[in-house]
Amino acid sequence: MTVQWYPGHMNKARRIIKESMTDVDLVIEVMDARIPFSSENPMVAELRQHRPCIKILNKSDLADPAITKAWLSYFEKEQGVKAQALSVQDKSKTKNLPQLCRKLLPGRGSAVKPIRIMIMGIPNVGKSTLINTLAGKTLAKVGDEPAITKLVSSAQHRIILEGNIALSDTPGILWPKIENENSSYRLAVTGAIKNTAIDFEDIALFAADYLINAYTEKVVERFKLKTCPEKGFQLLEEIGRKRGCLRAGGVIDIQRASEILIHEIRSGALGSISFETPEMILHETKVSENEQST
Ligand code: G4P
Repeated sequence: MTVQWYPGHMNKARRIIKESMTDVDLVIEVMDARIPFSSENPMVAELRQHRPCIKILNKSDLADPAITKAWLSYFEKEQGVKAQALSVQDKSKTKNLPQLCRKLLPGRGSAVKPIRIMIMGIPNVGKSTLINTLAGKTLAKVGDEPAITKLVSSAQHRIILEGNIALSDTPGILWPKIENENSSYRLAVTGAIKNTAIDFEDIALFAADYLINAYTEKVVERFKLKTCPEKGFQLLEEIGRKRGCLRAGGVIDIQRASEILIHEIRSGALGSISFETPEMILHETKVSENEQST
């Protein structure tokens, strides 16, 4: 699966963010807790420079808690980074975020020296929802189809929170980190790439193969199976049979079965699932480096 980002869009986003960064003291990068590596933006570290950064592993309600914990430790090893798992379902934890910002910038937070924060992140990780929770009301439009090829340079919104904190969202749309093919699949499975740009059967097969190995029990339980199939395509066939996805002549409709699997993953119906761990990413990076050097 190939996802295309246009160099012109990337350069424009880089330029606009770089200009806005001169007025920023702290960056909040929002990522999807199910795929923290793949949903990280490659430009944030480059553009924030010395500024402290809070990495939010958002939608943690959908992610595997043990894996989220491993990712939090992984990110906290980075210089100037604090990591937090958040979810729209736990608003009280989100509301403590300004307190953490003040801790990271002890000299700021007065009327003369407000804390200026930029919220960054790829589409669909929950930035608008987070801003709305912090603001305590609906300010940002939530739930737009994620855009992957269109760069919209919007006027930057800035909201003022209690305690002299000025919050702005990213001026423009950032692209995800698609360094290896698995990242594009993981972004598609979790809904960060818009549905019109993906082949459901292709990504459902990827997801099914992964789930069979990593979450066997959840698969068996959710689809009421006697045993877990060994191969992804067998699982899709089982889902098709169980859910009555049949075409004329009793042929299993794999497209419909694929849509069911992806929908159930995204909605959390299969339970809390993460699609990458720090160990997996280290391994994949090593493999790809070896491939490039041979
Ligand atoms: P963005 O600004 O980064 O593009 O993301 P946005 O806030 O628009 O959120 C994208 C989708 O993710 C929305 O769902 C939103 O409700 C959902 N979301 C945000 N935070 C969380 C969270 O912590 N947990 C879960 N499970 N979902 C979260 P949607 O279906 O696209 O829209 P809607 O049906 O909520 O309107």
